[in-house]
Amino acid sequence: MANILITGANGQVGKVLTAKLQAIYGKNSVWATDLRDNPNFDGKFGILDATEESAISAMIQKHQITEIYHLAAILSAKGEANPLGTWDVNMKSLFAVFEAARKNKIQKVFFPSSIAVFGPNVNRALTPQNANLDPTTVYGISKVAGENWANYYFQRYGLDIRSLRYPGIIGYQSLPGGGTTDYAVEIYHKAILGETYDCFIAANTKLPMIFMDDAIRATIEIMQAPQENIKTRTAYNLASMSFTPSEIAGVIQKEIPAFSMKYTPDFRQDIAASWPEVIDDSPARQDWNWKPAYDLEKMTKEMLFQIEKQYNKALEVE
Ligand code: NAD
Ligand code: SER
Repeated sequence: MANILITGANGQVGKVLTAKLQAIYGKNSVWATDLRDNPNFDGKFGILDATEESAISAMIQKHQITEIYHLAAILSAKGEANPLGTWDVNMKSLFAVFEAARKNKIQKVFFPSSIAVFGPNVNRALTPQNANLDPTTVYGISKVAGENWANYYFQRYGLDIRSLRYPGIIGYQSLPGGGTTDYAVEIYHKAILGETYDCFIAANTKLPMIFMDDAIRATIEIMQAPQENIKTRTAYNLASMSFTPSEIAGVIQKEIPAFSMKYTPDFRQDIAASWPEVIDDSPARQDWNWKPAYDLEKMTKEMLFQIEKQYNKALEVE
């Protein structure tokens, strides 16, 4: 039996991952935590600053925690507003979680990395697992450092840390929290609301993306894989689909022909242009059988269906 602690559980990924872990392990075995309160949370919730090792240790001991999913972080776009503050949160929380996990003999830790670890000097058309890592954002630098520390804690202390380089994650269940790929969630909401979407990424900039359901399944699958299958101890490349803003708009227009886009690229365009277009995730496919289930068309149908349902439900409540 696992008792699970999640940091950053109120975020885009945390909300969905928490519900999935509750469904697998039971509501009494999953402790969701965040810096911000969540009064309507259905299950066990606590306010926890993930940069505080002693608070994490106290939580581990009080609830006999055996696994940690460390999601708390400041993402790429938001991070550029306060580079040193972002470094502080991302690295302090990483060390606090890894140290608390090591000292309290936690069995497994999940720490998500990102496509942001890559910089402009890779083969952007198909970025391999072992490409050069020279990111241009403080967020990317913190993820590269985090990956290397994850490997260090595994080699030095045997702490079983598993990590994925998530692409941009697209889901209907939650809203994104300050990333460069957030446009690919916002666009669906604007399409359902019948509004023009003003995209902050240029029409032809291609980025790797993944549907939330696939991202969550990958997370569960890597965490449940036998230890001997996990051969990459920094972080695995993870791929699903890649598209440009004009391609996603075209697929939405097949469902909603009146949908319109305009483009006003801002500072996030420079970040996007420094990231890969397509990711080579063959080691993940070989080592623990990763295979995505959604492509752009299938995801778009599901996103539009679910978001429309949410807005209709909100109207009924009013
Ligand atoms: P998010 O910004 O939506 O959520 C982050 C959460 O962390 C927020 O609820 C915030 O309140 C919380 N938080 C911030 N500082 C904290 C602290 N000191 N203590 C406790 N909680 C704190 O982010 P997300 O999209 O859910 O991302 C989760 C993880 O996945 C992050 O590590 C991120 O780097 C990684 N990731 C996400 C994506 C994506 O597209 N969403 C892609 C790649 C990697
Ligand atoms: N979606 C994330 C971001 O844009 C990638 O890590 O920051």
